Amino acid sequence: MKVPFIDFSQQYKTIKKEIDTGFKGIFKRCDFVLGEDVKKLEEQFARYCGVRYGVGVNSGTDALYIALAALNIGPGDEVILPTFTFIATALCVSYTGAKPVFVDIEDETYNIDPKAVERAITPRTKVILPVHIYGQAANMDEIIALARKHNIKVVEDAAQAHGAFYKGKRIGSLGDIACFSFYPTKSLGAFGDGGMVVTDDEKIYKECLMLRDYGRIGRYEHKVKGFNSRLDSMQAVVLLAKLKRLDKWNKMRAAAAAQYGKLFKAVDGIRAPKVRSDRTHVFQTYAVRVRNRAKLMEGLKEKGISSLIHYPIPLHLQEAYSELGHKRGDFPVSEKLADEILSLPMFPHLTKSQVKYVCETIKSLLNGKF
Ligand SMILES: Cc1ncc(COP(=O)(O)O)c(C=O)c1O
Repeated sequence: MKVPFIDFSQQYKTIKKEIDTGFKGIFKRCDFVLGEDVKKLEEQFARYCGVRYGVGVNSGTDALYIALAALNIGPGDEVILPTFTFIATALCVSYTGAKPVFVDIEDETYNIDPKAVERAITPRTKVILPVHIYGQAANMDEIIALARKHNIKVVEDAAQAHGAFYKGKRIGSLGDIACFSFYPTKSLGAFGDGGMVVTDDEKIYKECLMLRDYGRIGRYEHKVKGFNSRLDSMQAVVLLAKLKRLDKWNKMRAAAAAQYGKLFKAVDGIRAPKVRSDRTHVFQTYAVRVRNRAKLMEGLKEKGISSLIHYPIPLHLQEAYSELGHKRGDFPVSEKLADEILSLPMFPHLTKSQVKYVCETIKSLLNGKF
């Protein structure tokens, strides 16, 4: 049996008709960039997240950059973020000229550790940037309490957590701003790049609208030095069709994760993800912890099962951030996780027999002689 890491062919079959009709509408109107479908998506996605405003942009990275720019973050400022994340979370800070301040994560959920955040706050801290890693929310109550106490803003990196709940509230409605990626592999993925900034703050919303479109306030009237970071209408058509089904597809991911979890109970040497009782996990990534990862991956590959590592090197040990002077040992939880984490196949239409095959293969590989 072959088990791909991701297979969206079933999703495509489900939405094909809607997409075809939507594309025809765009060709008729010729509103290719920031057209009426983008407006519709911004309204619907913001409502879905439980906030008033959405601003469609080019990518999740741009969403983060524009969010920080809207808050006037720049040289001399500090932004606190977890070292265990995708590099875009830090790059957007660097683009503004501010300093990314890395902190460690919790061992149980792999999310930013609020105690570490507290220790890292200085008079220069302007933003806390938690990442809802793999699809489970960070400890937002603690983070928001710290932010309010020190007059700091909270920008959620929600690139991996479309639709997740934290204490009954949707991800995207918790901090001052939230940033989503619509990269194709995300739970809500376009057929190309895309992203969105969502917020309940009208002032921030207006700033983001300007910043994504050359800083424009009229056709050729520019208030600030903005960017060209606009979502195109064809991506919006795809995303509108997928948004309608997002909750259902997240449930299907959760069912596959539950089956993995149940089967892994009988396997020694593997740690399944833990989900806190006050939040949901949308399993954009299904990541387990194992020892002897390289050999296990090799064995899985031989048996036709794809697996990946998200992420093998924490950001403080990346060459791109060598100027910060970090060394191995600075953030031990993240470093250990980076050595042990392994992402297994996960997508809504993953079948029960595929999950069973992955689990049985892992069990026999772990019981083998390596
Ligand atoms: C946690 C996180 N932040 C930011 C991004 C950047 O999103 P994009 O690839 O759309 O720029 C991604 C995904 O790639 C991500 O996983």
